[in-house]
Order: sequence, then C-alpha cells, then structure tokens
Amino acid sequence: MAQVRNLLVVGLGLIGGSLALAARRAGFAEHYLGVDLAQDERQGALTLGVVDEASDKLEEMAPRADLILLAVPVLSMESVLRQLQPLVSASTVITDAGSCKGVIAEAATRIFGQLPPQLVLGHPIAGKETSGVTAAEAQLFQQRKVILTPEPSTSPQALQLVRDLWQATGAEVLEMPIDQHDEVLARTSHLPHLLAFSLVDTLARRDERLEIFRYAAGGFRDFTRVAASDPIMWRDIFLANREATLGALDEFLLGVQRLRTAVAESDAEELVGTFTHAKSARDYFTALLNETGYQTMENQKINFVTQPGGGPVTGRVRVPGDKSISHRSIMLGALAEGTTRVKGFLEGEDALATLQTFRDLGVLIEGPHNGEVTIHGVGMQGLKAPQDPLYLGNSGTSMRLLAGLLAAQPFDCELTGDASLSKRPMGRVADPLRLMGAEIATEEGGRPPLKIAGGQPLKGIHYDLPMASAQVKSCLLLAGLWAEGETSVTEPAPTRDHTERMLQGFGYPVKKEGATASLVGGGKLTATDIDIPADISSATFFMVAAAITPGSDLVLEHVGINPTRDGVINILRLMGADLETSHQREVGGEPVADIRVRYQPLKGIDIPEDQVPLAIDEFPALFVAAACAQGTTRLRGAEELRVKESDRIQVMADGLQALGVNCEVLEDGIDIQGKGEAEAVFSSAILACHHDHRIAMSFAVAGLRASGSITIEDCATVNTSFPGFAELARSLGMKLDSDQLAG
Ligand code: S3P
Repeated sequence: MAQVRNLLVVGLGLIGGSLALAARRAGFAEHYLGVDLAQDERQGALTLGVVDEASDKLEEMAPRADLILLAVPVLSMESVLRQLQPLVSASTVITDAGSCKGVIAEAATRIFGQLPPQLVLGHPIAGKETSGVTAAEAQLFQQRKVILTPEPSTSPQALQLVRDLWQATGAEVLEMPIDQHDEVLARTSHLPHLLAFSLVDTLARRDERLEIFRYAAGGFRDFTRVAASDPIMWRDIFLANREATLGALDEFLLGVQRLRTAVAESDAEELVGTFTHAKSARDYFTALLNETGYQTMENQKINFVTQPGGGPVTGRVRVPGDKSISHRSIMLGALAEGTTRVKGFLEGEDALATLQTFRDLGVLIEGPHNGEVTIHGVGMQGLKAPQDPLYLGNSGTSMRLLAGLLAAQPFDCELTGDASLSKRPMGRVADPLRLMGAEIATEEGGRPPLKIAGGQPLKGIHYDLPMASAQVKSCLLLAGLWAEGETSVTEPAPTRDHTERMLQGFGYPVKKEGATASLVGGGKLTATDIDIPADISSATFFMVAAAITPGSDLVLEHVGINPTRDGVINILRLMGADLETSHQREVGGEPVADIRVRYQPLKGIDIPEDQVPLAIDEFPALFVAAACAQGTTRLRGAEELRVKESDRIQVMADGLQALGVNCEVLEDGIDIQGKGEAEAVFSSAILACHHDHRIAMSFAVAGLRASGSITIEDCATVNTSFPGFAELARSLGMKLDSDQLAG
C-alpha cells in the first residue's frame, strides 16, 4: 500500500531522479510528479519513467503534492522555498537532499518566519561523479546512510514520513544536529572534493599536461575521481558551508606543511610516522565499513558447523604466535628506548587491541605485516594522553596489564571492552593498584570500564596474590616500573612468567626467589628483537584433535613450551597420549620445540592440581579429550575457569551434556565420564560459545568423534586468538565449515 498519493521531486538530476526511481520501485507513492527548469531533464525523466508528469512550473505541481523532495543545488534552495511557501498547506511534508544543512535552515526560517514543523532537512550520503537524470539509479541509496537533522519543533509525523521514504530506498537513516552535520561533512566530503578539484586543476595548468595525464593512472585516478562532479553543485556547497570547510582546510594545510618540511629535510621518521598512522586509521576505517574484524562484527554471525567423518589429523603446521607474548612485546617495546623488531606477532583481535592502544597513546608502530611489527619506543616517560576511551575488545590480558601500566602515567584514561570483557572481574587488579597509590574507579562489582586518574605517585608494595594469576602479577610488576622502591609479588602457584622473562630481555633486572618476583622502580628498558613462538594454547586444539582421532599423526612446529605453560603436555601424557617433543631450543629467552602427536587411546585421570595454572587456558580442549578417554577424568582447584572469557566449567558442561556426555559440575572443577573407544563419542547438537573463542574451537574439535553434525553459534571471537583456525583445521583433515550469516 502506497504511503502517499503524490510525491513531487523538484530538481530531476541524479539524486532527485534516483530517489523517484527507488520510491517507485518500493511502491511508496501512487503518483510521481517532477519539476525542473531544463527541458532535457524533464524529457529524460518522462522517457525513463522516473516521473509520471513533469513541468517547469512549481505552481502547477506543488499544490497537488503530499510530500516534496527538493533536490536542487544548495544555493537554489532559498528561491525554491520562497516560491513554495504560498503553494503548500501545513500538511504538505517537505524534505531536501542538500549537502549543507545550516544555510537551508536559515533560508527556511527567513521565508517562513520559523523553521516549519513539516520541513525535515536531510542529506543522503550517496552519489556519483556523473550528473543528470540519465545517471539516475534506483539502487543508488541502498545500504547508504541518510542523515536527517530534525529540530525540536519538527513534526514527529513529518519526520516519520521522511524516514519511511528513505528507508523504502534501502538506506539507513541516522539523525544528527545541523551543526554537527555540517562539521562532519566538511571533513569527510567537502574537503576531499576541494582537494581533488585543486589537484586536477593544478596539473592541468602545466604546459606538458597531455604528457602528464597520459601517465596519470593509479593514484591520480583514485585520488581525483570526484573532480568529475557537477561544478555548480560544488560551488554552492563551498559557498554554503564556508566556515566549517575553512576549518577543515586549515587543519589540512598544516598537515601538508608538516609533510613538506619532512620531505625537504629528508625526515624519514616523520614520513613513516605520518604514513603509518594514516594507514592504520584507513585500515581500521575499511574494516569498520566492511564489518570485518571482531570488534565490528557484533551484529554478524559466524557459525562453525562440523560434519562427521573428519580425520585422521595429519600434517606439519605452525600455528599463530603466542598471544601472551605478543601483548607483552608491544607493551615493553613501546616503553623501551630504541626500536624493537618483533617476528611471529599474533595478528588476532586481542593482540591488535593492545597494538592499537599504544598507537592511541602516541607510539609509532609499523605493521603488523606477516607477523612482523616494528615499534619505535618512546621511553618510560614518553606515552601521550589518549583522546578517547581505550577499547580493548574481548581482551582481559590487555585490560589487566594496561591497568598497571597506565595507573602510573601522568594522564587520565578509561579502559572499556566488549560484552564478555565488561563482565570480568577487575577488582583483582584495581585493589592492589590502589594499595600502591593508584586512583581507579570501576563499575559495580569491580567490572569495567576502568577509569584511571593520572598523576598519582606510586610506591612499591609486597603483594601475596590471592589467586594464581599471571595477569595480576604482570599488572603489578608493570606498575612497579614507575613505583618508588621495590614491588614484589608472591604467587600461590607458578603462573606464566613471560613478563619477567621479557623484562630481563629488555635489560630490566627482575629478581626471582621461589614464588616471589620483584623489581625496583625507576629503571629503563632497552629495545631488543623478539621472535615469538607459536602459541601452545592454539596448538592445543590440534594436539587434542590428533590425540582423539584414530590414524592421526601430526607435527606442530616451533611451539612455545615455557615450563609455566606446559601443563597440557603433561596432562595429555598422563592420559596416555603419544606425544613427543623434539628440536628443543631457546628463542629470545623462551623455550620452543616441535610437538608430534600420534593417536593412541586415552584414559581418564585425576588431573594433578599443580598442573591447573600451567594449563589454565587449555581445559576446554582437555575436556573434549576427557570425553574421548576410557573412564572418568576429575578436575579440582580450577575455580579460575569460571572467570575467563566465559564460565568455562559451566559452558563446557552444558555443551558436553547436549552432546550426550555425562558430567558433574563442582564449584572448582568437573567430573567427566569418558566414552573411551566408542566410535561416536558425541551426538549432534547446536551449541552456544558465549563470546569465548576457546569454547568454540574445542567443540569444533569434538566434531571429529561425533555421529552427526555439531553447530557452534557465534564464533566470531575465534579471531581474537586464532585467525584462520577453520582453514587450518580443514587443511589438517577436519570437516569444519564456517558459515557467515548476516545478523
Ligand atoms: C594470561 C594469563 C592467564 C590466561 C590468559 C593470558 C596472560 O590469565 O588465562 O589467557 O597473558 O598473562 P590469568 O592470569 O588471569 O589466569
């Protein structure tokens, strides 16, 4: 059913014509009227079926219209509104498609004595460099944004009708105040058009212009596409949005001047700094527009679907770099004096969140490119205040370690995260940091966001960790770098010691005495090169895959086997897995080895409690192994699993039960009844992974011993630690599809 009887388009050009075509396609109006002074545009609009009737006289059409769209150049709006004023009733809704809103609102106020309630100003962020009605396309506005700028006096019914009109064209409708619209558009649209016109004009004035244009492909063509746009329309925009465009142009001129000086003085550092900053901003913006990357995928769905009959799991692979070490390489590299080169960096969302944070703190970081990152350290006092809250996505490690590091800075900052991170306990770091003198505010229950007040002098403390947590230990040691005197931390059980090892690698003395690590504040870090081993936590999924699938023989290369991380190897061996390490060597202070796993039946065990902190991230996958073992596997002393990216005891138990495996949940662990040699251990099910990457990957591995298909919903978070997991799994023999569904 049509929403209005007569829709009138004034100005039958690209925008007006496209709107009429799109509205017609959606059946928005019963009848389409057009007004244009140009005979050929009217004729074209009639021939192309854009409108049913066309005239050059507003007075013939306007009194019949229920809804009028003004699509004339911005500076013609005033005269069109003046002609319209006596022709329309208070129930006629008027809207426009002009690129500047301030001048049009002022003109309307002059003419009508106030901004009329039925006038809804708008601007479609769409267009092409071609003009005229023959360039019109019904799909021009599809999935594009349309900004409406209603005022408090705007009629809600009129606003709704205009929203409906644009939504019918397939556009996404947003609202913004008039001033903000003009500021934003001056920077994102008007300035680039001005520059494109200017560059082409400048080059075209040179004598050898024909020669130049003959070779001006690539960059020139990309940069200047919009210089083919309608000159009258753009003249009007610059006259109409004068102040905001001048502001944008002045900022731009300063930037160009800086680059001019850098070129003149051969200042390589300034050049690479500016280009890297621009590239990372542009990449971020592309990811945002294309909705790639986990941080922008919250309304996209990736489901994993396994099929039975996968395996055996065979081959030789190197899984991506260690997440914990990747985070720390950026942090210490940024604080060091000199340039740190990192190889094997994990290009997953979590480590990238840390990397982006340090860029926001003013550190120049090149890459990552194929795992290589170059960090131009700023020294212990060189970080700069960020402009906005620092968004850390799903990454608990980033938030906890940064809390320590930022508590000691002279500026304020705020740390935020996604739905999963926003539920995680931060009191465990905020409390001891407060004992050191930090000022940190959290939400109720110690949850994020964390608001850190800068300029607080810290003093060293001794802290007995109430839980075995490398994140809390590292947080305090990092804060201790700026604290007065000694900071020491005693842990109840050994946890990963990458921070201590890497600090020493950067030349910062750290004392280790039994369960206590300590350092004295006030020192400095010296840049070094870092070679990051493959992440044993990521390797675990394939170790378990090979350990549970008959006929498997798999080699995982260059895996970090730091003794504070090797619990998974010990536990799998205790379960009877055939697991061999070879080529053991030391790389940048971390032990690495190749790990070969061949299938052999597993048996249930009581997991030794001392192995729990050493395998803390590996339990979801180990639970899958336990379900495939003969007999019961019992885990105790693992309450920390409940505060990971999800409650890993409960979420895994729910999933295992849905897959037909019996288990009993305890506060600090679980008993899992293995099915041993049964051909199919798991039945078919649809499972949720609760924003937890490791849960998603563990159930994908379970697919190898399932009788039917397992669907795991919402697996986008796998990108936080293991980009390319599904592809790699397939290359090793697993039957795993990843379906991308629009949310
Ligand atoms: C990490 C420590 C562990 C681990 C996390 C990474 C680190 O957390 O679960 O994935 O890099 O320090 P806790 O220290 O909170 O146990």
